[in-house]
Amino acid sequence: MKFLKSFLVVFLIMLPISAFGEKAKTIEELAAMYDSSSCKECHAEIYAQWEQSHHARSLMGVLGGLFMTPLAMKDKTPFSPDDPSKATLDTFPCFKCHLPQAVVSADDSFAVDFANALIAQDKERLGQLRITCIVCHNTKAIIHKRSEGYPEANVLYGSKEVAAHEDARFKKIKKSSIMDHAIMCGQCHGMGPNLEFENPVQCATLYGSYMHNYLSKGGQKSCQECHMQKVDGFADHLIAPNWNDLDATKKLLQEAISLDIDTVGYDWLLKSKDHKPMVVVNTRINQNAGHRIPDG
Ligand code: HEC
Ligand code: HEC
Ligand code: HEC
Ligand code: HEC
Ligand code: HEC
Repeated sequence: MKFLKSFLVVFLIMLPISAFGEKAKTIEELAAMYDSSSCKECHAEIYAQWEQSHHARSLMGVLGGLFMTPLAMKDKTPFSPDDPSKATLDTFPCFKCHLPQAVVSADDSFAVDFANALIAQDKERLGQLRITCIVCHNTKAIIHKRSEGYPEANVLYGSKEVAAHEDARFKKIKKSSIMDHAIMCGQCHGMGPNLEFENPVQCATLYGSYMHNYLSKGGQKSCQECHMQKVDGFADHLIAPNWNDLDATKKLLQEAISLDIDTVGYDWLLKSKDHKPMVVVNTRINQNAGHRIPDG
């Protein structure tokens, strides 16, 4: 019996994304459905870059803070349930971008487990939930679902078709029509208030700035062209900046922001023999990002 039980647990954990409409009920179940550790074997360099990225720690990216905690605490936010046991997917609007796999592959019991883990400040359990390879290369790889259909279980989406992909679970890669387009990132990097919620929330707004203050002024680059330039032939998945790496962030900012100053000194002859020294200082601060910085 014990053997049968552990066999069943292993079997359940191995279930592919949403196969048979199964929904994750716990943190561990959702983490297992989107587990990307198998990719490491063949995409070691990309994997190592991603592990350092904010996408790999999307619930506590800056200095490990569990910023969703108030949403699990009574009266702290308009979304807070009276008790963590009453939490639902709807009481965590942040999932839309910080954990989109919960929206498609988890149910309200997951939200209860998640809320309890927040109250317990259990970083070890919560840290298993990340924007993994599968989230970008499956869940978020199709936007026009009415015309192109929903992402298929056991299929990955990339910039090109791969008929026989060697991964044990994802044996096929289809071409996504958005993978190298800015809108891929715009799905989460925000256009302004998210008005679809009962209580609208606003977080990242950078995609709005990209569209209305960069493209509109003739900007031509995509997010990927600036943030995922190829390293050793592959798109860089660190997707800098990594705010925890202060030296690298400082370097990026130094390259991105320029300060030009020019001055001219002169004497102002106020009245005969009364020379007032004067100076004109012109300063120009510029930045070459494709959007305002800082943002968010
Ligand atoms: C056993 C080795 C192996 C494993 C495991 C593996 N891949 Fe791949 N993958 C490859 C190879 C080889 C290619 C290149 C195929 C080609 O170019 O014809 C590839 C191509 C890709 C591409 C397409 C690249 C493009 O140009 O758009 C993506 C995306 C991808 N893999 C993602 C993943 C993810 C995500 C995982 C984990 C779930 C994974 N791979 C696991 C070997 C592997
Ligand atoms: C599934 C949603 C999602 C997608 C798709 C996505 N991001 Fe992010 N991204 C996030 C979240 C959430 C964070 C912040 C996580 C944290 O630090 O808590 C983040 C962090 C970042 C950061 C680190 C800087 C910062 O302020 O945190 C950069 C740079 C970035 N993303 C760029 C991109 C680019 C470029 C793309 C497209 C190739 C992209 N992202 C696609 C959700 C997403
Ligand atoms: C529209 C998508 C979206 C929604 C909805 C969203 N966020 Fe974010 N959030 C992001 C992205 C993308 C980043 C990182 C990039 C940036 O800051 O510009 C981020 C960054 C953050 C950060 C700073 C990073 C860190 O790790 O400290 C905090 C805090 C945060 N979000 C909290 C929340 C909370 C709480 C909610 C829900 C009430 C929420 N967000 C809803 C997309 C979103
Ligand atoms: C023309 C190049 C360029 C383009 C296009 C571009 N970025 Fe950036 N981005 C930068 C630079 C440079 C920085 C500043 C680096 C730093 O802060 O260390 C930056 C910073 C960021 C940050 C950190 C934000 C902050 O608060 O400082 C995020 C997140 C980000 N970009 C996401 C994106 C996304 C998403 C897109 C597409 C919608 C995009 N970027 C398009 C160059 C670009
Ligand atoms: C935040 C979203 C995001 C995450 C997370 C992500 N990718 Fe990607 N990946 C992209 C985008 C966007 C591209 C296309 C970049 C381009 O065309 O410029 C890409 C391209 C690739 C490619 C093709 C590289 C090339 O240069 O030909 C491979 C392989 C790949 N990803 C594998 C992975 C693996 C493995 C992981 C997890 C370790 C992963 N990706 C995580 C967004 C993501």
